[in-house]
Amino acid sequence: MSAQFGTWIGTNAPGIYKPQIDPALVDDPRFPALLASAKDGVSFAGQVVLVTGASDANSIGYAIARNFASGGAKVIITGSRDLEKITATATQLATEAGAGSVLPAQVNQGDLTQLDALLDHLKGQNLALTHVFPFAAINHAQLFVGIKPEDYVRVFSINVFGVYHLAAKHARQCPRGVPWYVVVPLSPNDGRLQGSGLYPATKQALIPIVVQGQNEVGDRRNGHYIGVSIAWTRSALMSQLDAGVAGAKAVGLKVFETRDTADVCTLCGTVGGQVLKGSVVDAAGGFGNVDPKEMGKVFAGGH
Ligand SMILES: NC(=O)c1ccc[n+]([C@@H]2O[C@H](COP(=O)([O-])OP(=O)(O)OC[C@H]3O[C@@H](n4cnc5c(N)ncnc54)[C@H](OP(=O)(O)O)[C@@H]3O)[C@@H](O)[C@H]2O)c1
Repeated sequence: MSAQFGTWIGTNAPGIYKPQIDPALVDDPRFPALLASAKDGVSFAGQVVLVTGASDANSIGYAIARNFASGGAKVIITGSRDLEKITATATQLATEAGAGSVLPAQVNQGDLTQLDALLDHLKGQNLALTHVFPFAAINHAQLFVGIKPEDYVRVFSINVFGVYHLAAKHARQCPRGVPWYVVVPLSPNDGRLQGSGLYPATKQALIPIVVQGQNEVGDRRNGHYIGVSIAWTRSALMSQLDAGVAGAKAVGLKVFETRDTADVCTLCGTVGGQVLKGSVVDAAGGFGNVDPKEMGKVFAGGH
């Protein structure tokens, strides 16, 4: 299977992005200042934003892409299946954003040649990515004893190898003379939640991109590598666990909607994100404060 690309959808009109998030959701002490820096709205005119894993309107990636388009950016969204469906999602996104433009792309993040084709396609259009949001990931609902050899490559290929490949190639092709951002989706799930399979391992494996990327590349080249430790967010990925939302809240967790998580991630890609370089934003909804055993019961058999 090779990568497939649609055509740009939308008016490319200028726009202003305004975050809507309730600041009380985010525990990171640096968040109020980040939010305040965007209180008058942000223009993303001239920005070129890649959001992988945004082909489903219920995904966090979709909500991030919509934020950037609403601020007038050119946004590329990817999914692994069905260009027709991704194109329909892009059309919906462009309509909801009312600004910017959207390019649908069918690119499997687990296939490095497809990622290369995507980057070549953008280069061919003279587009250098100012923002990279490698948000495509698969869940791996499995008890530890049930993890099979074939799972290692499948889950790591998409959740880890593809993200490293994108980040490393982008570092070689990053735009000159302007700030750029790589925002890495992390999870507070370090394995303590029952039935998480290889999912926690793959998310933990991404942390060095933030630190190493910043130290070795970002600091020399106007780049920002920022991780976001993401709370339970009611996305397509988590839909099978919707029944657990009340239980999660009962043990003290904050549960996010996709637009909330997307606001945190989008704000990391603004000038206010400067102070977050090389670090992880705590938008984990209080995960660290909850007794792991209580949490295990909430999530038993799931994410
Ligand atoms: N939701 C949460 O509670 C939560 C918590 C912590 C971290 N996160 C992280 O946040 C990110 C987004 O999660 P989400 O909840 O929005 O996920 P989601 O609802 O499952 O959406 C994932 C998107 O990725 C696409 N995708 C899946 N495999 C792909 C592949 N191989 N190549 C390209 N696209 C692929 C899916 O479309 P196709 O199936 O059509 O490819 C879909 O559009 C992930 O990195 C996740 O680990 C989420």
